[in-house]
Amino acid sequence: MQETLKVSVWRGDGEGGAFQDFRVPAQANQTVLDVVTHIQRELDPTLAYRFACRVGMCGSCAMVVNGRARWTCRTHVRKVVQDGRLELRPLANLPVIRDLATDMAPFFDKWARAKGTFQPKDSADGAVPEEFHVVPPSSAKRQAADAGIECIGCGVCYASCDIVAWNGAYLGPAALNRAWTLVNDVRDGARRDRLDAVAGDAGCHACHSTQSCTERCPKGIDPSGAIAGLKRTLFWGMFGLDR
Ligand code: SF4
Ligand code: SF4
Ligand code: FES
Repeated sequence: MQETLKVSVWRGDGEGGAFQDFRVPAQANQTVLDVVTHIQRELDPTLAYRFACRVGMCGSCAMVVNGRARWTCRTHVRKVVQDGRLELRPLANLPVIRDLATDMAPFFDKWARAKGTFQPKDSADGAVPEEFHVVPPSSAKRQAADAGIECIGCGVCYASCDIVAWNGAYLGPAALNRAWTLVNDVRDGARRDRLDAVAGDAGCHACHSTQSCTERCPKGIDPSGAIAGLKRTLFWGMFGLDR
């Protein structure tokens, strides 16, 4: 007889809800996203959830699986299932639209507040750059920028951060990691504004260095280290030093 998984799925909206139980056939090499897709296609077409690429690139499929935020398209059931059970919730620290779909607007608003958009130096006055800016791959700044650049905006770190839960204004690990990436991008012309934007109680100084973001990032990024870099740079900047 084919094994089945017992899957409890959060159903509801921002006003409240409850878990609903489903039974899903277990398959070899099944991902958590496969399980959710089975429920929506075969058992309840009204289930709301989000995904796009299925290959770990778009960052849209993250949920809380058995108590921990994860990307679901690259999470194999066999690695997270407990006694044949899965419990699926929407990402924490974000408003719930419906069921497993969260509203990512506050997350990306904080990227904007942290000035997470590249501002090319060459075009600050509207001039078109004459040549590509060459940044040697071995330079320290380039390597510091590279360390955080593969962020896919999945929100796993944001949902795992206790400070985000306690302080709704806190920019959070992803936005600060993005800011640190751009602070180290020697082509960028908004360094000073960006450092001002990430200072203060809602910025990098609110981080308690608990490391949950770094432990859980599915891309192996170290937002906690990025935040430490911002704190260091702001500290030395008070003495007019760039470190
Ligand atoms: S290290 Fe800072 S940003 Fe990361 S989870 Fe802990 S408090 Fe949040
Ligand atoms: S830093 Fe990692 S966990 Fe956070 S949004 Fe980017 S990819 Fe996701
Ligand atoms: S569906 Fe794109 S990262 Fe999971």
